[in-house]
Amino acid sequence: MINGKPLAYLDSAATAQKPVEVIDELTRFYTEYNANVHRGVYKISEEATAAYEEARAKIARLINANSPTEIIFVRGTTEAINLVAQSWGRMNVGLGEGIILTEMEHHSNIVPWQLLAKQKGAHLKYVGLTDDGHLVHEDFRQHLELGGSKLVTMTHVSNVLGTINPVREYIREAHKQGCRVFVDAAQSVPHMPVDVQDMDCDFLAFSGHKMCGPTGIGVLYAKKAILEEMPPYHGGGEMIREVHLYESTWRDPPYRFEAGTTNIAGAIGLGKAIDYLSELGLRNIQLHDQELAEYMHDMLGKVRGVKIYGPANPRTKAGVISFNLGDVHAHDMASLLDEDGIAVRSGHHCAQPLMDRLGVSSTTRASVYIYNTEDEIDRLVESVERAGRVFKV
Ligand SMILES: Cc1ncc(COP(=O)(O)O)c(C=O)c1O
Repeated sequence: MINGKPLAYLDSAATAQKPVEVIDELTRFYTEYNANVHRGVYKISEEATAAYEEARAKIARLINANSPTEIIFVRGTTEAINLVAQSWGRMNVGLGEGIILTEMEHHSNIVPWQLLAKQKGAHLKYVGLTDDGHLVHEDFRQHLELGGSKLVTMTHVSNVLGTINPVREYIREAHKQGCRVFVDAAQSVPHMPVDVQDMDCDFLAFSGHKMCGPTGIGVLYAKKAILEEMPPYHGGGEMIREVHLYESTWRDPPYRFEAGTTNIAGAIGLGKAIDYLSELGLRNIQLHDQELAEYMHDMLGKVRGVKIYGPANPRTKAGVISFNLGDVHAHDMASLLDEDGIAVRSGHHCAQPLMDRLGVSSTTRASVYIYNTEDEIDRLVESVERAGRVFKV
């Protein structure tokens, strides 16, 4: 209960709630077989190693990777992007070369590339947005055709607008020009079936905490041949083949990229979350989210003074809706909704360039997941109407 009202949690784009199955699995790990992985020859260490590697295999099956060796455990999407920028990027992006991004990226898919561009003297090139929150395809084509770009990096689903980008088509075009493609799947893998082989992306990343898993665990997928060419990102234990005083050799991927003791409990918890989501079915989850988003879009759209950002057709977007009510500041809106037990996000959503494009400093964002209901959307809409009366919109 929040402020005497049942909690309506509409902020799953930030992080998802955890099913009891995941929490129980974490407890079971810590109470029954807590041990380091890949190091011990005793029973519980072998058990922990098997569970950790089984989680890797579950992830590979979830996104249809060719092999579990293409799955690297990281802290989250942010770390996956930094890893690729500093390992693959430093080796492959040179002076005057280009990195193509979009104006709807999360800061975590902008800043690591800015750091790389500064280090290497490379250029960032942005694909612009239409007024209703779609990528301007022509911008993309022009950047590609100018040549000299090494990488395209784009979000699969916008964390602000809910736009689902046609990544498959973009990847095909980028590959024709010899560009590698990184897909930020933080907002898609938790909510819809994603098939990396069908998409043919070179890299893809997502975070466990947005898909009912623990915090501090995430995934970098990359094609095997690319990973094999990449130097380590972090140095330390368990990522080496041999260490001498002045030089060392590396293990094969994925271990080359998993230095030190990793988040073992997190990986096992994520494996359990994948079991949970797979039982529900990713296609069913997508339909559920989209139905609720469509309902929310229709109902909020009827409230006087509400402006919704992003695709006008709710059927083409994911379960994320950003809006403003008249001149009411998003933080005031979120505080008022909180009085009614409704949790939404307000602010720039780690997407300041997108806010600039929209011409606002902030929005209120409501996002749905497996546990949300139409009744909660009704409560949101009533509360937004109340805000309209309070703030005299
Ligand atoms: C599209 C997108 N990319 C990247 C991230 C960063 O994810 P994390 O903070 O889990 O690393 C987020 C988180 O909100 C996101 O929505």
